[in-house]
Amino acid sequence: MPRIDSPPSLDQCKLVDLPKIHDPRGNLTFIESGQHVPFPIERVYYLYDVPGGEVRGGHAHKELQQLIIAVNGSFDVVIDDGRERQRFHLNRSYFGLYLPKLIWRELDNFSSGSVCLVLASAHYAENEYIRDYREFCRTVDALPR
Ligand code: TYD
Repeated sequence: MPRIDSPPSLDQCKLVDLPKIHDPRGNLTFIESGQHVPFPIERVYYLYDVPGGEVRGGHAHKELQQLIIAVNGSFDVVIDDGRERQRFHLNRSYFGLYLPKLIWRELDNFSSGSVCLVLASAHYAENEYIRDYREFCRTVDALPR
């Protein structure tokens, strides 16, 4: 039986308050699969040296789940479920924004020197992206409500 997805909702996107070990020698934050993210971590990548004014993202994923963290500096993540949009400002290395599958995202407002760390639930696969916003809206509109 093919699995029938329900439509995505911004309610499924969550700010995760990660553990922070305070230490006068410097703070430490850790992330464990299944504990702080509800998926096995299969890939880690990071965006850095982003020139001022640039925009990243601009796509959704068919299946991929992610946790996005501003490990240095700050940036905004605009999320969109095909019905509504919400802007998050990430500026702490101990907060992660969890995104389930089928959420359109755009990242902008990068501060100088910022680093965007992304934990992902699967290896990179271009055929898993939806890079056209209208195609994204058609995809989520076709799911039963
Ligand atoms: P993309 O995911 O579009 O970047 P962003 O959403 O951050 O703006 O990826 C940009 C390019 O990098 C694209 O050609 C695919 C490649 N890429 C990989 O090869 N492996 C990866 O894990 C990622 C995230 C991207």
